Amino acid sequence: MAADSRAKAATLNLRRRLLSSSCRLFFPEDPVKIIRSQGQYLYDEQGREFLDCVNNVAHVGHCHPTVVQAAHEQNLVLNTNSRYLHDNIVDYAQRLSETLPKELSVFYFLNSGSEANDLALRLARQYTEHQDVVVLDHAYHGHLSSLIDISPYKFRDLDGQKEWVHVVCTPTSPQVSFHPQAWMTWQCLSLQAPLPDTYRGPYREDHPNPAEAYANEVKNVVNIAQEKGRKFGGNPVSCAVGLAVLDVLETEQLQAHATNVGSFLMEHLSQQKAKHPIIGDVRGTGLFIGVDLIKDETLRTPATEEAEYLISRLKENYILLSTDGPGRNVLKFKPPMCFSLDNAQHLVAKLDDILTDLWYFFLDMEEKVRSCKTLRIQPNSVKHPSGKRDLCLAHLHQEIHQLQLAFA
Ligand SMILES: Cc1ncc(COP(=O)(O)O)c(C=O)c1O
Repeated sequence: MAADSRAKAATLNLRRRLLSSSCRLFFPEDPVKIIRSQGQYLYDEQGREFLDCVNNVAHVGHCHPTVVQAAHEQNLVLNTNSRYLHDNIVDYAQRLSETLPKELSVFYFLNSGSEANDLALRLARQYTEHQDVVVLDHAYHGHLSSLIDISPYKFRDLDGQKEWVHVVCTPTSPQVSFHPQAWMTWQCLSLQAPLPDTYRGPYREDHPNPAEAYANEVKNVVNIAQEKGRKFGGNPVSCAVGLAVLDVLETEQLQAHATNVGSFLMEHLSQQKAKHPIIGDVRGTGLFIGVDLIKDETLRTPATEEAEYLISRLKENYILLSTDGPGRNVLKFKPPMCFSLDNAQHLVAKLDDILTDLWYFFLDMEEKVRSCKTLRIQPNSVKHPSGKRDLCLAHLHQEIHQLQLAFA
């Protein structure tokens, strides 16, 4: 492949001219141009290596050679729609079924999480003959019109809530979203996949095995779906890739690996919670972890600006992370499953450094004067906590000057 020759600014200009501004960039003020990837790393046009802590779609790592090879080999032979008989689609369905309870055994392959959720919505409506939907507050289900209607996270900024949508509060926080396809792999392969819950449906009271009955009924609904199959979902290349991903998960024992690294990361992030009051909570499972940043313990006000600042400082340190939740104050970790113990250690150390800076950076001037007075500190001796943060130093000098004026 040709080396990247277009300067980042030129790419940005072209993008601004040719793409809709609603296709958002990460870090819009200073976007990152990524031209290459491997494992848990992304590389920019200058060859700088970024640690990817947030890309949950590349489950087993970016450009895994086994996965790339499988796609390439299948592409050389055939890729066509799924209305012909082909072994890849049945092999993939079979391999997936081996990871699930036996009752969950009918598959429907689609092209995206949004398509899957749209189909689920349609099946439910076809079966119940009702339109109403109950959704969790702040939930996101995808970008199709049908899904924006049932995603409070989206519809609040767009058309508003439809009368047939009923929003219920989530009892838990931090809340983070997780791509449904990634969830499928993680939830079903790394945890015990559950049968459908039984508090809904006609079997809940008097059936010896309500979950199984419910699953069978769902199977019938899927079978009679007014849907003749999508053209490209389950195509030979996608299924070859899916099979390769399952192979890598097994051969590299990535589930056990994610469990180990995830609990190490949770433990070390929890230690940071003891040190930095801005961390309100750390929760997660495996490598899917949320860190809730709050301004105060009592009201738990979301520390939105601090979270944004933290993400931008991490980026300066070549670590890519993002925020989520209604207050955009939850740091969301969902790295590729090959994320290592060293990566986790490095991430926590950087987070610790930046959080150490943060307490001072975000105090307002009154609080700074107050804390200096209370602690009987002379402005001359006020030091930036890290003592070496270039980004903050100019700002700090200016503040020390203002403190001196306040003390004069
Ligand atoms: C929770 C959740 N649901 C649905 C989707 C939509 O999936 P897709 O972008 O593949 O259509 C996403 C995407 O990130 C998601 O996080």
